[in-house]
Amino acid sequence: MTDLAGLYNVAEFRRAAKRRLPKWLFEYIDGATEDEIAVRNNRAAIERIRILPRAPFDVSNRDLGTSLFGRTIDMPMLIAPTGGAGLMWFEAELGLARAAKAAGIPYCMATGSQVPFERVAREVGGRLWFQLYVWPAREITYELVRRVAAAGAEALVVTVDTPVSPNREYNARNGFGVPLRLTAANLTDMTLHPRWLLGTLLKYVLAGGLPEMRNHPPEYNRRRTRPAIAPRLGLSDTVDRAEIQRLRDLFPGKLLVKGIMHPQDALDMVALGADGLVVSNHGGRNLDAAMATFDALPGVVAAVGGKTTIIVDSGIRRGLDIIKARALGADLVQTGRATLWGASVGGEAGVTRVLDLMRHELTTAMANVGVRTIDEITADLLAG
Ligand SMILES: Cc1cc2nc3c(=O)[nH]c(=O)nc-3n(C[C@H](O)[C@H](O)[C@H](O)COP(=O)(O)O)c2cc1C
Repeated sequence: MTDLAGLYNVAEFRRAAKRRLPKWLFEYIDGATEDEIAVRNNRAAIERIRILPRAPFDVSNRDLGTSLFGRTIDMPMLIAPTGGAGLMWFEAELGLARAAKAAGIPYCMATGSQVPFERVAREVGGRLWFQLYVWPAREITYELVRRVAAAGAEALVVTVDTPVSPNREYNARNGFGVPLRLTAANLTDMTLHPRWLLGTLLKYVLAGGLPEMRNHPPEYNRRRTRPAIAPRLGLSDTVDRAEIQRLRDLFPGKLLVKGIMHPQDALDMVALGADGLVVSNHGGRNLDAAMATFDALPGVVAAVGGKTTIIVDSGIRRGLDIIKARALGADLVQTGRATLWGASVGGEAGVTRVLDLMRHELTTAMANVGVRTIDEITADLLAG
């Protein structure tokens, strides 16, 4: 077991994940698309932001509480959906949900999870959101939406930035996929990472089989029926505004749209009744020329700020980044890789440590910029 207390920031969690995971899994998390320009731009845009701090003020008793859909969360962040999380750690989705609940923040589960949503709702609870990839088979998609609504999902997060499979060359080279494809190269890779092999894969085998897609209908996970149904449960390149309207009408809870970058799209989604938007370029994983999310955020805020909840992701690595996002007008941020590296290194305890570090960084930075509450973080703090 990795000494979690000996890891002091997200970058160290990334390095520890690299040691524990087989190369093909580490690359699946860490990689982006093509020449990895977008992922670098995301970080560059965040790193460029300068704060003009205020002082002296009494900054004792700092409060990280933030209002989200009429209820308070304990800091302005949530855990973003990451498909395949359960490959990193045995049933990692349960650990992600437990750590989020203990930290007083929501967890958004991905469609492509190794634990079904209903089980997380039953065994963990908390503020659970569900990320939806609309499948070509619409009737099966709507059935899934009804299922997660019945299980108590607070929000449905419809991802709209992935109409086709992105060009991720490392995945193609590594033969990455769920169910796992056991090639000679990745079998060797697995045996070179015994902590993952015994601590994760073996646990699945002992529990009855290889990790599967547990939100998918059972036919998807049976070797005999899978070939016929798999193409109907892939990505859909026909998701349009009318589809968002249908999902809005179908889902009784909060509806968010993830992958919005353009102010006009933001306006259109709010007009359709979206309760929130995620300004996201999927962590730079889809379009390599995508604008950095922190550069796109001000346009979206100018268009719909105050009319809807705005979440930003792609490149958040420090609590300080949350201050930057709030100063630019976002309501909250979400983390994909940061918390997934936490799960990869230590399951629930790893995610908890990552969230603790980010909370500590945030409260330290709040004192240093001269604010006591999240609402006091405004555009006034931005230098120039
Ligand atoms: C391994 C991995 C899997 C992901 N899977 C999904 C997914 O299934 N659905 C989705 O909407 N976003 C997915 N994302 C994107 C995240 O939700 C989020 O937008 C992104 O990770 C944010 O960037 P960050 O990793 O720099 O925090 C995934 C990201 C990673 C790293």
